[in-house]
Amino acid sequence: MKFIKADTYEELSKIAANIIASQVIMKPDCVLGLATGSSPLGTYANLAKMYEAGDLDFSNVTTVNLDEYAGLDGTHEQSYRYFMNRNLFSKINVDIEKTYVPNGIASDLVKEGLNYDELIQSLGGIDLQLLGIGVDGHIGFNEPDSVFVAETHPVKLDESTIEANARFFATKEDVPSQAITMGMRSIMQARKILLVANGKNKKAILERAINGPIDPMVPASILQLHSDVTVIFSEI
Ligand code: GLP
Repeated sequence: MKFIKADTYEELSKIAANIIASQVIMKPDCVLGLATGSSPLGTYANLAKMYEAGDLDFSNVTTVNLDEYAGLDGTHEQSYRYFMNRNLFSKINVDIEKTYVPNGIASDLVKEGLNYDELIQSLGGIDLQLLGIGVDGHIGFNEPDSVFVAETHPVKLDESTIEANARFFATKEDVPSQAITMGMRSIMQARKILLVANGKNKKAILERAINGPIDPMVPASILQLHSDVTVIFSEI
């Protein structure tokens, strides 16, 4: 695992965007696995700038997002589909038909998960997966559990996740209690993984994920088993 300590969030965002940009340049028809949360926002802004400057072309890129809240459709401002459209897809020349986010309003979320994994397989897997990390060690919405779950699946969100994400909603009660998330198989089969984490409150959990035992109670610790992971961390 490669660990990069950036001095500032701006530096973290630049390095992460450069890594994603090099993937797109090396393989213009790559499959990018994308993440939400506040940590990747600067990365997305930098990618949009590179596109505007004429340095990047996303027209042949396909994207698959990690997760979505259950019960929110893509027009809901806090849905992850809306987040991606607003912060990245509307700012670059990706074909919106080739951007995938799990469907949080599917009537059967288990089936939706299995279909999502089939879709990822049919695309040939993920070339580069961008991840954030939750304060409880979650990646995507794979919450601490007694097992690592392989499939894309519905999850009940932890209280700490609901509290952390409440800042985006009018009240804590508005945060959905369930979500659908890509499982560990699709994440771990990604050819490269890039994890971005910003803020002092991520330091302890990152330390446990990188150097502690591989334990489903710290979901990100599974990344120790992957051969090409880059972690970029900035405290400020
Ligand atoms: C949400 C997302 C995760 C993300 C996490 C951390 O819970 N489902 O994929 O990694 O937030 O976000 P932030 O970077 O805002 O701390």
